[in-house]
Amino acid sequence: MTTTIRFHQYGGPEVLIPEDELVGRPQAGQVRLRHDAIGVNFIDTAFRQGIFPMPLPGVTGVEGAGVVEEIGPGVDDVQVGDRVAYFLSPGSYAEVRLINTADLVAIPQDVTSLEAATILTKGLTAWAALNGFYKLRAGDTVLVQGASSNVGLLVARWARALGARVIGSTGSQDKLAAIRSSVDYPLLSGDATFADQIRHLAPEGVDVVYEFVGKATFSVSASSVRDGGTIATIGAASGAPEVDSAALSHRNVRVVGGPMAQHLQGRVLSATNDVFAAYRAGTFGTYKAAVYRLKDAAVAHADIAARRKFGPMVLVP
Ligand SMILES: NC(=O)c1ccc[n+]([C@@H]2O[C@H](COP(=O)([O-])OP(=O)(O)OC[C@H]3O[C@@H](n4cnc5c(N)ncnc54)[C@H](OP(=O)(O)O)[C@@H]3O)[C@@H](O)[C@H]2O)c1
Repeated sequence: MTTTIRFHQYGGPEVLIPEDELVGRPQAGQVRLRHDAIGVNFIDTAFRQGIFPMPLPGVTGVEGAGVVEEIGPGVDDVQVGDRVAYFLSPGSYAEVRLINTADLVAIPQDVTSLEAATILTKGLTAWAALNGFYKLRAGDTVLVQGASSNVGLLVARWARALGARVIGSTGSQDKLAAIRSSVDYPLLSGDATFADQIRHLAPEGVDVVYEFVGKATFSVSASSVRDGGTIATIGAASGAPEVDSAALSHRNVRVVGGPMAQHLQGRVLSATNDVFAAYRAGTFGTYKAAVYRLKDAAVAHADIAARRKFGPMVLVP
């Protein structure tokens, strides 16, 4: 028997319950994977709440890293004992799971499973932000709404490394100090002069806004982007924003969004290599996960809901 975290109804963190599970044998094209570490992402909380409905009882989580225990019929691209990770395959809050080999990427030898589960989804989302949603150029002025989020932090650090000038926001006074070393200009989004401060830093408007917050910040994003600029609505942690498409299109502002996976098609291997290379090169800076026991997944979710943590989180069985 192994442990799987299930929810039988949508709701708060308390609906996440550890249950015993007998994971069966892998089918054609699948492996049975024993997790060393499971990445925690904001989207996990959306599955749990039913914002993204899934059949009940459900298992949230999209990311994990571990060791292949058994391969299914016809599998020849992965072997028993391989260390692998994945980034967008729902059902990861489990000690052991079945998964399609098409979803797996190899973990380099110099990267631990814990590190892979910490950086893969967030790093690939940051990669998509800088190469897909918008192609960042050196010298661009960038506004990261939610530079305190785990993805936003990587976008800010990577954009700076690529030669951009980065304005970053947080909604929490405590996190202002935490993002200070990762952006050129840290700002508090709840400040009454937030929009004016951005306009002072970028009188013509910023070239691109990376939105991770949504409803709470979008009006400032719209007023801060330059005519002809881009708003990439990658996340909406505070809820879906109201977008005045007509006004933005009148100013030739491009609003792009949707899943990051659309930008990885045919490029997963090269994007993954870029993420691991950036990690090795120190571009991600200090990016150490807070570790929770898998059975304490509800505690991790409560910490996300309370916005009291800064930095990534992983679950370990
Ligand atoms: N499009 C995609 O494929 C894709 C992929 C990955 C992630 N995402 C999205 O990107 C966003 C960031 O993901 P993440 O995993 O990096 O999240 P995270 O680390 O949990 O950070 C979320 C941040 O959002 C802010 N926030 C949360 N609730 C808020 C509220 N009610 N009002 C205002 N701000 C709030 C918090 O910042 P402060 O406390 O500093 O204000 C928090 O640090 C999420 O919306 C996620 O769903 C999208």
